[in-house]
Amino acid sequence: MRPLFPKRHHAILVPLLAIALWVGWGFGSHSVRAGGPALRVATSVCEAHELRALKTEDPDLAVEIPPEFDIPWPTREACLSHSAAEDPATPGPVQPIQFSHKHHAGLYEIDCQYCHSGVDRSPVAGLPSVELCMGCHAQFPSSYDEFEGIRTLKQHWERREPIEWIQIHRLPEYVQFPHLAHVLAGFDCVQCHGVVKEMDKIYLVPDTQWWPWQLPTKKLEMGWCVDCHRKNDATQDCYACHY
Ligand code: HEC
Ligand code: HEC
Ligand code: HEC
Ligand code: HEC
Ligand code: HEC
Repeated sequence: MRPLFPKRHHAILVPLLAIALWVGWGFGSHSVRAGGPALRVATSVCEAHELRALKTEDPDLAVEIPPEFDIPWPTREACLSHSAAEDPATPGPVQPIQFSHKHHAGLYEIDCQYCHSGVDRSPVAGLPSVELCMGCHAQFPSSYDEFEGIRTLKQHWERREPIEWIQIHRLPEYVQFPHLAHVLAGFDCVQCHGVVKEMDKIYLVPDTQWWPWQLPTKKLEMGWCVDCHRKNDATQDCYACHY
């Protein structure tokens, strides 16, 4: 019986290998026969990054990178984040600027409080001003203007217009939520907002739990607040949260 095994394997493997080689070869030589593989020319720094990455996978690829795009800035990570931030297929609204938390707060480790400075000082966390963005971006080389997001940012700066970010976490008017009290009580942003450092686009992270009376609670509903208050011995007084 034993010697039969390798033979059987060969009987299957050899034709498979032949097919694989033929298919692989066929693909490779097809494009050559049709007047050689099409030369792909980069038309931006981001495209240059992609073509370089493709070429490491397939060394036969014919690639041309004009000198003005053969520069390291913007980085490939910034290019990837910019396109991920404008992807309508991922959760969360598409914002007026393709701004990525994964890139700013994650990769570059810019502190949350640097941009949301109200979080431990006032009832609202607040969003950064255009001026704060420009504090960094005014110093960046002009090659960054290939990003639609950076062009939009600069337009707002020139016109002295604020950016109309789409709000994601919003409680009704009759509820009061003091960030300050929660941050001082030692809760991390992650607890209520999810792992923002990994998000190219921000969304409301679902948090469905069953609290004592077997009612489902979703994030930003009253049950979500009260559930955590109950567990942490915090106030359940109606007028603490309602004016
Ligand atoms: C460089 C500035 C910057 C840094 C650093 C930053 N953010 Fe933001 N954040 C923004 C901007 C701009 C928006 C609005 C656009 C958006 O939603 O992406 C925002 C939006 C948010 C929102 C949603 C606001 C809403 O409408 O509900 C949350 C939550 C948030 N940030 C949390 C964080 C956390 C947590 C960190 C740190 C891990 C952080 N941010 C770091 C600039 C920043
Ligand atoms: C206990 C839960 C909780 C924690 C912890 C928390 N947040 Fe929030 N955050 C909320 C809620 C709820 C809202 C909506 C507030 C509203 O609509 O009045 C919000 C809103 C926001 C907003 C939108 C702008 C604003 O001021 O309303 C930003 C930005 C934000 N949070 C950032 C942060 C950052 C950064 C941290 C960590 C330093 C943090 N949050 C910690 C629950 C939390
Ligand atoms: C502390 C400095 C700093 C601040 C403040 C800052 N950025 Fe950036 N931003 C960067 C860096 C660094 C990069 C990425 C550079 C690279 O990798 O090529 C970047 C990249 C970007 C990009 C490309 C896509 C992405 O997210 O990676 C956009 C768009 C952008 N920033 C918009 C903004 C906006 C809007 C603000 C204000 C809300 C802002 N930035 C605030 C440093 C900053
Ligand atoms: C992750 C747990 C948690 C969640 C979720 C939470 N809270 Fe709290 N909250 C607390 C704790 C703990 C305190 C007590 C802080 C202290 O005593 O210093 C508190 C305090 C408060 C206070 C009193 C602040 C003061 O000045 O005494 C209000 C008002 C409040 N929370 C509103 C809300 C609302 C509204 C929500 C839902 C949108 C919410 N909280 C969600 C844990 C939470
Ligand atoms: C820890 C904070 C907190 C406490 C304590 C609290 N609420 Fe609320 N309440 C909320 C939030 C947040 C909402 C908004 C829920 C939403 O939009 O789904 C809300 C909504 C409501 C609504 C409107 C519901 C609707 O569907 O329109 C009523 C009525 C209400 N609360 C009554 C009370 C009463 C009565 C008490 C005291 C027994 C109380 N609340 C205590 C946070 C709280």
